[in-house]
Amino acid sequence: MCGIIGYIGKKRATPILMEGLKKMEYRGYDSSGLAVIERDGIKCTKKEGKIENLEKELPTMDLDGVVGIAHTRWATHGEPSDEHAHPHWGCKKDLFLVHNGIIENYPQLKEQLIKEGHKIKTKTDTEILAHLIEKYYEDEDVKLEQAVQKALQNVKGTYGIAVITSDEPNKIVVARMGSPLVLGIISDGEYLIASDVTAILKHTRNVMYLEDGEMATVTDEGMEVVTLDNKPVEKKTEKVDWEIAQAEKKGYPHFMLKEIMEQPEVVLNAIRGRMMEEEGLAHLGGFIEQKGRLAKINSITIVACGTAYYAGMVGEYMIEEYAGIPVDVEYASEFRYKKPVIDENTAVIVITQSGETADTLAALREAKRKGALTLGIVNVVGSTIAREVDAGAYSHAGPEIGVASTKAFMSQLAILALVTMFLGRQRNMSLVMGQRILEELKEMPKKIEKVLKQNDEIKRLAKKYYKSPSFFFMGRKYNFPIALEGALKLKEISYIHAEGYGSGEMKHGPIALIDDKFPSFFLAPQDSVYEKVISNMEEIKARKGKIIAVATQGDKAIEKIADDVIYIPKTIEMLSPMLTVVPMQLFAYHVAVLLKRDVDQPRNLAKSVTVE
Ligand code: G6P
Repeated sequence: MCGIIGYIGKKRATPILMEGLKKMEYRGYDSSGLAVIERDGIKCTKKEGKIENLEKELPTMDLDGVVGIAHTRWATHGEPSDEHAHPHWGCKKDLFLVHNGIIENYPQLKEQLIKEGHKIKTKTDTEILAHLIEKYYEDEDVKLEQAVQKALQNVKGTYGIAVITSDEPNKIVVARMGSPLVLGIISDGEYLIASDVTAILKHTRNVMYLEDGEMATVTDEGMEVVTLDNKPVEKKTEKVDWEIAQAEKKGYPHFMLKEIMEQPEVVLNAIRGRMMEEEGLAHLGGFIEQKGRLAKINSITIVACGTAYYAGMVGEYMIEEYAGIPVDVEYASEFRYKKPVIDENTAVIVITQSGETADTLAALREAKRKGALTLGIVNVVGSTIAREVDAGAYSHAGPEIGVASTKAFMSQLAILALVTMFLGRQRNMSLVMGQRILEELKEMPKKIEKVLKQNDEIKRLAKKYYKSPSFFFMGRKYNFPIALEGALKLKEISYIHAEGYGSGEMKHGPIALIDDKFPSFFLAPQDSVYEKVISNMEEIKARKGKIIAVATQGDKAIEKIADDVIYIPKTIEMLSPMLTVVPMQLFAYHVAVLLKRDVDQPRNLAKSVTVE
């Protein structure tokens, strides 16, 4: 998804901007561009495709300026092209802008601007904003920040923007509504602005997050933050505690593999300091603050998108079984437009890696309007959703760079187990059960390690099956969501058609596809539905379908039915998804590598979907 980076200081801006753009590549993009204030005006270049295309333009441009803005674009209005890439500018070509988000009323604004004589060249909503600011900036007494403010008062939609002009060469104006922006303080007089904290981590850990409806004027003398209606805002500097090293590949060929391999440690970080083993309790700071309200809730709605949604589905099984509270899991994109039946006795749990997913954020705001208690399971510290929920638990998975989510999902499962315990122990869960879950959770890093050790074996399976045009993934109960996640992982990074099913549902249609060329993954750990899953496997086998099973260590019987078996250590049923998902991730990874796909940045996908 789109990324913004800006620099103002004493160094050459271009290398810093380029480096920032590269750090945001993982978000997914289709073009990039930059604009730098030079002695003789602003110089700008932009290119469709990878950042290298932009880089090739730079040597001829001779850029020395110390103030600049840059952008990676992911098309929403107008196809990906050099022209549609950002920055955009107004008629005079002395005011440049980069923008994340969508200007909803741009057709009306465009009509008006054209009537007033502006020449609009592209199909983008962003160009309109550049012209609109230019219009208010025409008045000699108006400063850039005032023009931006006036323009934004006429805008409906979402934005994170950064604006520069050659008339005030020592200034970047930024503003935010629904699209994140962070200000990084390198030293007095040297600042970065970015839509993503990973883009600035190399230079500084000291940051200030802009809130919706705020704007900042950044010069080499300091920063001033005001609201869009010009009220001063006092801001605190915060420290980001991510290691830059954490955001790099650590010698793995892809971020995704690195992130899969990090999962034992991720679980450790998610549960560290949150287990009270003797009392069989989960210690979740944010939840403790809300414990009075949490004791009273009589229903839970979990809202999320993509992989986080599947984590939510596992959470549904956990919470209903162990805390006895009815749970609904909803796609955020659906929840925000339906009429959700929730009230102050409902807890709405939002699960999100990025904390910025537009649909999830909108759903959260809707839930708040309805008076529900809102809780977050969020990875990115300081993200919009993390700041807006009533309470929450950070996942502590560290930065996840691969677009296909792996370790964030694992951390979400660990936190959901703790949330289940928290709620369960407020209700009927026994001390012994609480202790048992904690004991198993503590063992989980070692057990995940054992599954990861079978990487070579899983790679061998990938080699055997990677030419299949379709796959099924099947499981029941706790492993039904893992079947869905397994199918999602495979399709998003390998582009192979894959579907996940509850295996009991397979005979109601999907089984028609089965023949000797159609492979199915079965998640079949020895749990309460084991026999049922085995029967479903028999049904596939009878139709000559190929079967790859994920089974519990020691289950030799399954080898008689399955063509291939991957073994996982034994654990309690509710935690088994933390083990069964690992072979799903590794299989998808190896298939994608064999097919020479862009594993970390699959086509058409974005890491953080900040538009609707
Ligand atoms: C995008 C990503 C998915 C992710 C989903 C939700 O579609 O490609 O991997 O699961 O967004 O993201 P979130 O940051 O809210 O967890």
